Amino acid sequence: MKFIIFATLAVIVGAMARPQDTGGSLCSNGRSTANAQCCVWFDVLDNLQAGLYQGSRCGIDCNYNGYAESPVRKVIRIAFHDAIGISSSLTAAGQFGGGGADGSIISHSDVELTFAANGGLGATVDALRAVGLQHGVSFGDLIQFAAAVGESNCPGAPQLEFLAGRSNASQASPPGLVPGPADSVTTILSRMADGGLSADDTVDLLAAHSISSQENLNANIFRSPLDSTPQVLDSQFYIETSLKGTIQSGPNLGFAEVLSPIQGEFRMSADNNLARDPRTSCRWQEMATNNALVRTRHRAAMAKMAVLGFDLASLTDCSDVIPVPAALNALPSIPPGLTQGDLDNSCPTAPFPNLPVAPGPAITVAPAVTLIVQRVVAGLAEP
Ligand code: HEM
Repeated sequence: MKFIIFATLAVIVGAMARPQDTGGSLCSNGRSTANAQCCVWFDVLDNLQAGLYQGSRCGIDCNYNGYAESPVRKVIRIAFHDAIGISSSLTAAGQFGGGGADGSIISHSDVELTFAANGGLGATVDALRAVGLQHGVSFGDLIQFAAAVGESNCPGAPQLEFLAGRSNASQASPPGLVPGPADSVTTILSRMADGGLSADDTVDLLAAHSISSQENLNANIFRSPLDSTPQVLDSQFYIETSLKGTIQSGPNLGFAEVLSPIQGEFRMSADNNLARDPRTSCRWQEMATNNALVRTRHRAAMAKMAVLGFDLASLTDCSDVIPVPAALNALPSIPPGLTQGDLDNSCPTAPFPNLPVAPGPAITVAPAVTLIVQRVVAGLAEP
């Protein structure tokens, strides 16, 4: 009799602890994850989406800190700048080589925010620190989680992998480890390789520039986008950086800025050169024609970047907490007014694949600031 009561209780308790749908652990608000340790990330998710990301926005047009801001993009950039702070050559030379994706950009912001490459990231670093402290999670985990959640807000993005369990102990990264926009392809690729990332990884990671803008390189075209569709993660960045540059978007060319093919678009020297260098151009043009390939490869490269400096065996897979991004229906195309002949054929082994041309007159892309002002004047909500 005792045994029957015990067995019945065990079944009831088991049913309460394990949600019927996934067999995983039940967390707040009825959500479930494969690992009980991952539950805390649902709370962080809610915090980020309602707070920093202002209602799950991708972000080009968030009105943040009183001006047009892109917290999602800043966070993705922070994720790169934190993770690439690792150097096998420094370690081999007997010096401290950095801890990779260890959150040191937050823990040691007094040092790392003085690096020129981290200009403009301070407010977002502070916002992330507050979220990390509130939930008691490590800064390294938080940065990579926030980047994955941020990307999930952008249609066309992959559902990024997220592994938790990075220690919160870190030292400040050595200076000079973040590649710069005026660096040569050789300098960029050797820095990335020294950090643990290949030339292919570099091309694949740069899908992040398809949802990007600049504010520090040319203040006259503040927050000008790096492609014509900065609100979605897609192939357009790879296509448009492969088009011949003919237009100066602002009254002057900024630092590390070269001519772009579209009025209002900013082209960075590094992106321009990576699109044309024989070490990267063939992979670049593969990415130009296939949004699904961009998604798959970008996901794999981000997963590699996110664990630089860490042993996979010490981390727990909490990827099922990351929201599934909205799908993207648009197909890659040459922007209106341009043709296949405007593409530079840079891959030595294959011609640039044929692409459809989008119909209509030549387009102009506007910086985020302009878009916000236009919408406020028109009485529309921010997009
Ligand atoms: C490998 C060489 C790279 C160089 C030289 C580079 C350089 C830059 C520069 C100069 C900016 C403009 C920043 C500003 O003025 O506000 C920028 C923006 C950005 N970068 Fe990179 N980047 C590189 C790779 C990456 C990677 C690997 C990622 C992420 C995986 C990334 C993510 C971003 C994002 C999201 C932005 C937009 C920031 C915003 O709109 O506020 N970048 N990058």
